[in-house]
Amino acid sequence: MPNDNLARLAPLSGDSLPSNALAPIGRVVSVGGSQVMIEFSTGALSNGETTVGAFLGIWNGRTLVVGSLCDVSLHKRADGQQSEPAGGRVDLLGELILDQPGAGYFQRGVMTYPRIGSPVVPVGHDALCIMFDTVGPNTINVGQLQQDASIGAYIDVDDMVSKHFAIFGSTGAGKSSAVSVLLHEVMDTRQNLRILLIDPHNEYASCFEDRAHVVRPGNLRLPYWLFNFDEMQEIVFGRHSDIEDEVGLLAELIPLAKNEYAKKSAANPAGYRTLSNEAGGRYTVDTPVPYRMNELVALAEARMGKLENGAVAGQYRRLISRLQSVRKNPRYSFIFDDDAVGNDTMVDILCELLRLEGDGPPMTIVQLAGFPAEVFDAIVSVLFRMAFEFGLWSDGALPLLIVCEEAHNYANADRAIGFRPAREAVSRIAKEGRKYGVFLGLVTQRPAQLDPTLVSQCSTVFAMRISNEEDQRIVHAAVSDPGNRLLGFLASLGTREALAFGAGVPIATRLRFKELPKSSIPTSEAMWGGRIDAGTPVDRNLVANVVARWRGIAMSNKPVIAPAAEPAGFDWTTPGLK
Ligand SMILES: Nc1ncnc2c1ncn2[C@@H]1O[C@H](COP(=O)(O)OP(=O)(O)OP(=O)(O)O)[C@@H](O)[C@H]1O
Ligand SMILES: [Mg+2]
Repeated sequence: MPNDNLARLAPLSGDSLPSNALAPIGRVVSVGGSQVMIEFSTGALSNGETTVGAFLGIWNGRTLVVGSLCDVSLHKRADGQQSEPAGGRVDLLGELILDQPGAGYFQRGVMTYPRIGSPVVPVGHDALCIMFDTVGPNTINVGQLQQDASIGAYIDVDDMVSKHFAIFGSTGAGKSSAVSVLLHEVMDTRQNLRILLIDPHNEYASCFEDRAHVVRPGNLRLPYWLFNFDEMQEIVFGRHSDIEDEVGLLAELIPLAKNEYAKKSAANPAGYRTLSNEAGGRYTVDTPVPYRMNELVALAEARMGKLENGAVAGQYRRLISRLQSVRKNPRYSFIFDDDAVGNDTMVDILCELLRLEGDGPPMTIVQLAGFPAEVFDAIVSVLFRMAFEFGLWSDGALPLLIVCEEAHNYANADRAIGFRPAREAVSRIAKEGRKYGVFLGLVTQRPAQLDPTLVSQCSTVFAMRISNEEDQRIVHAAVSDPGNRLLGFLASLGTREALAFGAGVPIATRLRFKELPKSSIPTSEAMWGGRIDAGTPVDRNLVANVVARWRGIAMSNKPVIAPAAEPAGFDWTTPGLK
């Protein structure tokens, strides 16, 4: 169809809307831009169905202009008493065009404006079906329309995924469950799409079961050489201050160690590029190629030994001791385990994390709870960056959707908060990812804390119940849809309900996500789920397990491709006590 706004062609009974939709309930009394004022006929509101949020139609020749009733009120009489006729304001959203007998289609936007006196009708079931029940290979069914539960809410899967989407809502509004509904549907219709789900509360593994590969402290391999310098700096020095000199030395040593490693392995066909001798090698501090930490420390020690300047030698000493202490920390073993550096495992790691090989589940869930909190940011940053770079260097060989819960942690509206490289990585995907087949789905309960430039890149927004006024204001500002007056409902939406706007939906609408079976509802494994009035008996074994976890022994599993055998009597998935 030449106009890609056309939702679909569908048969209509006769050459007009169904008879129940034809009985006018009012008329247009003023027209202004994208809004019209209407006057309801006496008794038209008595059925209780026509209220704010309802879709109304205005006949305009063979076109039904469709809008959403955004307020309704009784006119005041001269004596101050309120009486009929009631008046209302309608936001115009689109047109149902009935240009052939028995057929109609819906398009966004209004080309022919209603006239004063045009009849107003309720938008009945058949018309809603044409607008929303757009079943087909490009749509996913995520639930039902709030206005008519017998009509499915269909989302254009390609538009939603490829133009980024966001889900906002206060805690308990149903965001995670909505993610579960959306991703199950997306996986059913787009088998080639790969999904990387950042799961800070370890809540998704059980609801995707064998459809997802789960990475957690026991089986994640993320060797330090994959980290760029900013990320490495975060791991080695954390938020320490007064370490500029040591940071500078580390930046000098890493490329040397990389080149050293490459020279040694050049004899065997490891696929490294030939090094240019005059430069002493081509690798920069950020090139993701292996090097050995032992070699880096040895280089530092050799340089330190030659120094006469005690102050600089002190900087080397501090750097070496810092490196040794993070390397020895068992909680960082997934990064510093030297076995992981034995050979160039980057291809394996990419294949595993981004599900690049055809077989196996198309989704990776990264369970963050259980990793040391201080490396969350660095892990997420590496993953975002690897996903983007893979898209870039492969010319978008395989589309990849990254869904990020608690997105405000990685791209806060306050630029001083959070980890700069993670923010840069996520912003880069938001701005350029579409060119390379890398897409974002952002989920947050604090939209006001999410970088507004990211919010504006999300073309489809699902706004669920939001009670905080500041968050409501941000969502209002972010949604530039003509139907955004619907957002007045934000505070009163029920659980599972969402206002959907933008590219993925025909017009702004209020929908209710499908009810998930209990097994598919995301449930946090990481949070204490007990009752205050109930206690679990604690014995010495349990205390010993706690101490082991505390000291990080339990974190020291060697990285393996398949999930590692779990340490006896220890539950990886649950940082809290069970
Ligand atoms: N689609 C759904 N089907 C069935 N139950 C649902 C659905 N959506 C929400 N619920 C119910 O509401 C509860 C809260 O939903 P959910 O955990 O998805 O909210 P949330 O917005 O992610 O909350 P939080 O911000 O705390 O993570 C669920 O435990 C479930 O009982
Ligand atoms: Mg949640």
